[in-house]
Amino acid sequence: EAAEKGGYEHFMMKEIHEQPAAVRDTLSPRIKDGRIELSEISLDEETIRSVRRLYIIGCGSAYHVGVAARYVFESLARLPVEVDVASEFRYRNPVLEENSLAIIISQSGETADSLAALRECHARGVPTLGIVNVVGSSIAREADAVLYTWAGPEIAVATTKAYSTQLAAIYLLATEFGRVRGTLDEEQYARLVEELEALPGKIEKTLSDKERIQWFASKYAAAKDAFFIGRGLDYAVALEGSLKFKEISYIHSEAFAAGEMKHGPISLVEKGTLVVGVLTQPDLYEKTISNMVEAKSRGAFLMGLTTYGNYNIEDTAGFTVYVPRTDPHFATSLSVIPLQLLAYYVSCAKGLDVDKPRNLAKSVTVE
Ligand code: G6P
Repeated sequence: EAAEKGGYEHFMMKEIHEQPAAVRDTLSPRIKDGRIELSEISLDEETIRSVRRLYIIGCGSAYHVGVAARYVFESLARLPVEVDVASEFRYRNPVLEENSLAIIISQSGETADSLAALRECHARGVPTLGIVNVVGSSIAREADAVLYTWAGPEIAVATTKAYSTQLAAIYLLATEFGRVRGTLDEEQYARLVEELEALPGKIEKTLSDKERIQWFASKYAAAKDAFFIGRGLDYAVALEGSLKFKEISYIHSEAFAAGEMKHGPISLVEKGTLVVGVLTQPDLYEKTISNMVEAKSRGAFLMGLTTYGNYNIEDTAGFTVYVPRTDPHFATSLSVIPLQLLAYYVSCAKGLDVDKPRNLAKSVTVE
């Protein structure tokens, strides 16, 4: 097993470090000479133009990719998106529109609820596209088309590289939909494709900051509660950061849309409560800062996660982590990295079983 871990102490850390390559392997076969090439899923331009609404369905982290996907698709392709956890979708008797497309996201391709949601879509005449990692899995076989994520086998229960490659697959689709639907002009499209090609290198660079996060994690390993806040795509990544944190550190954590803090959650903030603010979206930066200031004035300790250049975050946050600049639509791919590392190092500092957290399974194949 030590050999399989490639010199890392845990599979999770190995898989965290495999992310630049996994994202590159997912993106690069689908980008040729600066153009996105998705012929493998037979989504021709006419079909893309006919889609009126997307349903994006998944569980756990795959659902969190769906939450991010909603922002990305709505902004780049101006296409309405509904996102649901599979276990809710299948039982809510959803009203599904004609000319819609369902995207089912699943690493294993075997999650019982996600598979049932896919079947529900078919029963109601909605075509499905799987974003799946395991080749030949049930969802891959049953979906009308599959866009594989090329993350390779993922062993740690807490997903890292599968999540990152699912995001990459969504970016490819949303950018292509934007071009075909005319909501992106050629110049915007070319710039986004260039940014996509630069993402693996930027993920690599983000990983180089890990010692500081390890130091910070050792200070917070005894925390009782942690809150992750953000707006827009920073909210989507806060959901994932919080899930990662709770599942392997066993510290109670929650994610909130930053604007919701004053509608209840702020009453939980006490002296020393850890509040992690994610601020990669330029339009929302000041808004989230003000939510962080409110938490700080009630005693919270603030960690700020933002883009290089936003150094005035240090006026507010006690610990700061910076990620490289990219197009804001793709920033989630970078901001998730420090959040994975934070969860990992807290779990290690507590001496827990990082790769096999209690009560959790890698793939949930029963309801
Ligand atoms: C489990 C795993 C999660 C995963 C979720 C969905 O809860 O621990 O990491 O996000 O299942 O799994 P899937 O294989 O459908 O992506």
